[in-house]
Amino acid sequence: MSFSTDFLWGGATSAHQCEGAWNVGGRGPGKRDYMIVDKETHQRMLTYVDRSGKRCLMPLGSGTQLPEGARYEVFDDRYYPDHDGVDFYHHYKEDIALLKEMGFRVFRMSISWSRLFPRGDEAEPNRQGIAFYRAVFEELRKNGIEPLVTLWHDDTPLYLEETYGGWQNRKLIELYDRYAETCLWEFKGLVKYWLPFNEINNVLLFLDMFGKNPTDEMYRAAYQELHYKFVASAHTVAKAHEIDPNNRVGCMICGVPFYPATCDPKDIMLNHCMWEKGLLYSSDVLCKGEYPSFTERLWREHKVELDIREADVVAMKAGTVDLYTFSYYMSSAVTTHNATDIVGGNCTTGVRNQYLEYSEWGWANDPLGLRYFLERMYAQYKLPMMIVENGLGAVDRIENGEIHDEYRIDYLRGHIREMKLAVENGVDLIGYTAWGCIDLVSAGGEMKKRYGFVYVDKDDEGHGTFDRCRKDSFYWYKKVIASNGEDLD
Ligand code: BG6
Repeated sequence: MSFSTDFLWGGATSAHQCEGAWNVGGRGPGKRDYMIVDKETHQRMLTYVDRSGKRCLMPLGSGTQLPEGARYEVFDDRYYPDHDGVDFYHHYKEDIALLKEMGFRVFRMSISWSRLFPRGDEAEPNRQGIAFYRAVFEELRKNGIEPLVTLWHDDTPLYLEETYGGWQNRKLIELYDRYAETCLWEFKGLVKYWLPFNEINNVLLFLDMFGKNPTDEMYRAAYQELHYKFVASAHTVAKAHEIDPNNRVGCMICGVPFYPATCDPKDIMLNHCMWEKGLLYSSDVLCKGEYPSFTERLWREHKVELDIREADVVAMKAGTVDLYTFSYYMSSAVTTHNATDIVGGNCTTGVRNQYLEYSEWGWANDPLGLRYFLERMYAQYKLPMMIVENGLGAVDRIENGEIHDEYRIDYLRGHIREMKLAVENGVDLIGYTAWGCIDLVSAGGEMKKRYGFVYVDKDDEGHGTFDRCRKDSFYWYKKVIASNGEDLD
């Protein structure tokens, strides 16, 4: 057994990390347009002025709200990495040609909500924004590449955050519905695969990150935000099916398999609870259309009371997804014992796993974890699966115009091997999109943390030509796709 002949090989990006053109073509701002990287702490910070006009910085994180009377502001003397991204907005034809050269069958990208609805609550969309995405989708189709579109990749229009309090407000469901329905109508026939929310479960994962010490109020806010997003996602699924029965809609889960660090039953139980809260809670609602049996216990733990209406429950049941899609970079180990060796990871922190090696950014390299996650989630939901993010963030060096990224090839090879074993073990895996297939701005704002098969000439200060150049992994992945995953050497 092997990958199906129509297996969707490709790569993934998001609008705010690659598109650039932040104030071009009628686009409105999002919170990320006010984010710099603090030189000393390497933390992402939001820039704003307080009510007295003083310039201030605030770390990005779940639940951060501006002080009373303050407003976000771009400071002239600071560099905002997302403003130009890797300028996909002006390079998309060249980029798509490179994807085609690699043999891509699918390209995951996101639509910037504020490019279509600059404030977020307009009655009609910005036609320039529609024209841009239409041109990109047409270019993809012309090149035989299937678009896979994320509707929300961490970028709510700023106006909605400031005016309505963002996803804490039920009003966001209605406004998101309008945006999603616009996309479904406008791009009907061009786009078939849709993901309503990127890594929807990460608001809960973030709370458990080391050093956060979340309050009950932070838990309430996270569960409420999730509930509104669950309802919006379910509406999108139903609408997508109504508008075009060919549409396929997926959940998108941040896929971090947790491991108990020891076989102490307390660690086993902690691990079990991490799966429940971090992974199954969101997956169950999106795939089965109802909150799982352990939900009341989770809410009770933090005295959470939510705004949930009867119509939400009905909508959630009617709008279950067609596909299970997820990101996978690493696994995480948890323990109830005192642990000092804390390691980072995608939306998580955990204890160091002595059996694994770690990347320059401290993320575990665990190909087997991918197979474990695929097989566990397939057994649970029996939905076609797609890995929509996977890759190694690393520093690349140019030598005589070439980039020998053997480390990236090794990482990807290991993961694709495990995917194949999962397929042999019965998992219905339909696609794989490697993250940041063209270098882009990392979530932490760094350019030097690169994932791509294609190198982009831009550095952490924003210097560079945006020229594209093929890495060794480009030729390797081309071979992988041409052999449908058989030739991994
Ligand atoms: C995922 C996000 O969490 O991880 C991406 O969906 C992000 O937006 C990716 O870029 C990798 O994380 P980072 O921090 O290396 O960019």
